[in-house]
Amino acid sequence: MKIAILSRNPKLYSTRRLVEAAQNRGHEVIVVDHLKCDLIIEAGQPAILYKGAVLTNIDAIIPRIGASVTFYGTAVVRQFEMMKVKSAVGSQAIVRSRDKLRCMQILSRAGLGMPKTAFTNYSKDSKKLVDQVGGSPCVIKLLEGTQGLGVVLAETDKAAESVIEAFHNLKARIIVQEFIAESKGADIRAFVVNGQVVGAMKRQGKEGEFRSNLHRGGTGMLIKLSAAEKAAALLAAKTLDLAVAGVDMLQSKRGPLILEVNSSPGLEGIEKATKLDIASKIIMHTEKLALKKKEAKTKASE
Ligand SMILES: Nc1ncnc2c1ncn2[C@@H]1O[C@H](COP(=O)(O)OP(=O)(O)OP(=O)(O)O)[C@@H](O)[C@H]1O
Ligand SMILES: [Mg+2]
Repeated sequence: MKIAILSRNPKLYSTRRLVEAAQNRGHEVIVVDHLKCDLIIEAGQPAILYKGAVLTNIDAIIPRIGASVTFYGTAVVRQFEMMKVKSAVGSQAIVRSRDKLRCMQILSRAGLGMPKTAFTNYSKDSKKLVDQVGGSPCVIKLLEGTQGLGVVLAETDKAAESVIEAFHNLKARIIVQEFIAESKGADIRAFVVNGQVVGAMKRQGKEGEFRSNLHRGGTGMLIKLSAAEKAAALLAAKTLDLAVAGVDMLQSKRGPLILEVNSSPGLEGIEKATKLDIASKIIMHTEKLALKKKEAKTKASE
């Protein structure tokens, strides 16, 4: 098979591991920088120009699209789909997963547990918002934040109200969320591939830090998920139609609570914490997709 990995940088850990895993399984693999692709759109003949040449004979792609380039990156994934190339994760699912608020709404409808969350169009009544999520301490988050930046723990009602007002004045979109104290600065990342949890880790924030992000000095360790945690991770990935997903959860008295579902989850943290070969699981899933397509083609020509 010929597999293209859509990634901006072949040196990144996740990209290197996917290349290695694909080669180990006997595939030809190329790394394609999605921002350097030109899309040629014409009736019945969609094509992609990459570094001046038309990309041909690719059986499947594995998109690794960063949040800052969602628009163009997913347009490239969609173009491959139009060319009948299988994608390890669908373009539509990636686009949808990038709207965090929409994801929370959809996951809540599916009955998944989550910290109670409030969102508003810059309401002046910050006190009501804080009350709605159970009062202080509460967590205030920039909607567009990542790596733990823009996540604030407000210890008192007054602090919460000041922070909300400050963000509103800056016209920054935020959510106000119930603080889950019993998670004690830790969260769980479950890595889902094709309807199975292929690895899970617990991330613990450093001393005195409620955010467990590895970028904020947290450490990841192997964890065995409870049946409820496993079920929640699988349902979240399925509900958002993500064949590859990193599902972040908090452990609480009322069971697992979903924080976020990531459609291009990094491999470094999870592989180092679990010592598992997650990259090969993604390659095997991609093989299955491409194989299904080949079988369908053979059937059609019979
Ligand atoms: N409601 C909460 N109660 C307790 N701890 C929380 C809560 N929300 C977040 N945290 C802690 O803060 C960390 C960072 O929060 P979160 O994951 O929501 O933001 P982020 O990592 O900046 O963004 P994203 O994960 O969407 O890229 C979490 O991993 C968790 O440890
Ligand atoms: Mg996070």
